[in-house]
Amino acid sequence: MHEKSLGDLVSIKKLLWNIFMGEAYKEENTMDLMIIGNGGREHALAWKLAQSDKVNKIYCAPGNGGTAIENKCVNVDLNTIEEMKDFALENKVDLTIVGPEVYLVQGVVDLFKKNNLKIFGPAQAGAELEGSKSFAKDFMKKYNVKTADYQVFNNLEDSIEHLKKCDFPIVIKADGLAAGKGVYISPTYEEAEKALRECMEEDVFKGAGKTVVIEEFLEGVEASILTITDGKTIVPFLSSKDHKKIYEGETGPNTGGMGVIAPNPYYTDEVKKEFEERIMAPTLEGIQKEGFDFKGIIFFGIMVNKKGVYLLEYNCRMGDPETQCILPLLKTDLLEIIELALEEKLEGADIQWEDKHSCCVTLASLGYPGTFEKGFEITGYDKVNGKYFGAAVTLKDGKVYTNGGRVLNVVNVGENLEAARAATYEDVNKVDFKNKYYRKDIGNVQN
Ligand code: AMP
Ligand code: GLY
Repeated sequence: MHEKSLGDLVSIKKLLWNIFMGEAYKEENTMDLMIIGNGGREHALAWKLAQSDKVNKIYCAPGNGGTAIENKCVNVDLNTIEEMKDFALENKVDLTIVGPEVYLVQGVVDLFKKNNLKIFGPAQAGAELEGSKSFAKDFMKKYNVKTADYQVFNNLEDSIEHLKKCDFPIVIKADGLAAGKGVYISPTYEEAEKALRECMEEDVFKGAGKTVVIEEFLEGVEASILTITDGKTIVPFLSSKDHKKIYEGETGPNTGGMGVIAPNPYYTDEVKKEFEERIMAPTLEGIQKEGFDFKGIIFFGIMVNKKGVYLLEYNCRMGDPETQCILPLLKTDLLEIIELALEEKLEGADIQWEDKHSCCVTLASLGYPGTFEKGFEITGYDKVNGKYFGAAVTLKDGKVYTNGGRVLNVVNVGENLEAARAATYEDVNKVDFKNKYYRKDIGNVQN
């Protein structure tokens, strides 16, 4: 009763403020945030940040049908970095957090900073670690970061000549951003030549494959290690394991991610030590020596095999769906962690994680990552015991519809991996839409 009357008083105060001051009421020392992006990752970030007492409101730019109904969130239809900057200035946004790499590579951080707006993420020069595979590989080589052997080519004839001397399988990577589709694992010479022609002659990646990296194939198990840096210190988050292929048993084409478990069972203390010494530390040194303005996330995609730990790639943002899987295990206030990074105070930061396990499954539209139908009503998402995060979903007249390939994520936390898996799959069965597809073996650790 007492709580309710206090709540009523606060509501009346807010209402009067809105009427007399002509602007929305905001509790003292609270912040209005903007999250850029429209996927499941952004819904998870919004959900977690909304839990902070310091957060008043979150603008999701443009957000999705999941963020549209999330606590403290409001979707704003902004699509270019200029529109986002103008909105942030007009609405006095206190801090912006960037989800997808594409805006980082376009220089959203540089643009916001020029306009004295606070933003979390690397400036354009550092974002090239994700924006260009050849730039990233040259950086790794320069700073002695352990990675697969490689060569870079700008012309088809030279790349084909090189191919004739290679062992197979071989890995071919389009240099630029290709929405996760620019990596070919080619088992034979013929397939590798076809991949090179697709990139360089047929230009299927619209410019992003004009330069290619040809790289030694590494066998092993993968891990996703997200870290946060303020440019002086780098702190790893909890490890996780993505399941990138569309079909069970890690077969079929690559996707954006069909499910994740955390922590990663293959990320042993020994692997951690080697990763931190041979990959993470030299990366920070490189960032400092290159003079990058880098206050943001570095996501290391690593391969672990008998010869040790290798870096496959850098991403300069949170992973999707790694974020949806690990944030439910984060005990520390995410906003406080981000603020420490922005103030260059990460040294000694104590980031606390639940001593539990998390399992996240992606529900997709049948046919993804190829062609699929969309526009189907989603039911049961509000009945899950764990948490759902909307990805390709739209909200219309109070109903939620499918709007793309990776539709939504379902996540549960458990005392052990089996408990987390069982709870997530129970929830997966509650959510329904036409042409629902998902992998049944997420967290089956052989995969
Ligand atoms: P990347 O975008 O570089 O992480 O590549 C996407 C996926 O391709 C990785 O998650 C791996 O599954 C695979 N991959 C990339 N590079 C290699 C490599 N050198 N050897 C084996 N698999 C690789
Ligand atoms: N799940 C992999 C990525 O976010 O790139």
